[in-house]
Amino acid sequence: MPKHLYIKWTPEDHFNHYIVDEQHRGLISIINSLYYFIQSGWEISSLKPTILMLEQYVIFHLKTEELILIEKGIPHKQLTIVQDYGKEFLEELRGIVNSSIQHKEPNEVISFLSKWWLGHKTQFHEKLIKYITH
Ligand SMILES: [Fe+2]
Repeated sequence: MPKHLYIKWTPEDHFNHYIVDEQHRGLISIINSLYYFIQSGWEISSLKPTILMLEQYVIFHLKTEELILIEKGIPHKQLTIVQDYGKEFLEELRGIVNSSIQHKEPNEVISFLSKWWLGHKTQFHEKLIKYITH
C-alpha cells in the first residue's frame, strides 16, 4: 500500500500570523514524518527520538504563542491557559506513548496527535485568535 500523509495542510489552517503558520506547518510535518515510519512498520518504542522532537517542538510553539500574547498585552494571569495546555499535552502524549508501546499499537499515538492538532487549530486558537491576529 502506498504511503500517504496523515494530516494535510489546508488554506483554512492559516491564522494569518506568519510565525504561527510556519510553526503549525512544522508540527504537521513532524506528525506526518512519524506516520511515515509507522507505515513502514516501526514501533513507537523505536521512534522515541521523533516523539521527543515533537514534545520539544510543541513546547517551543506554545512558548512562541505565549510570547505573542505577552507582546499583545494579555494579562500575565491569563497566560496560564497556554502553560496548562502545554502541561496537559505532555502528560497525555506520554500516557498514550506508554499505552501504544504496551499494546504494540503505534496508531494510538497518531490518532491522538491528529485529534490534538484538530483541537489546537480550532478550540485552542479560537480562544487566542483575537489576541494573536490583532
Ligand atoms: Fe498554535
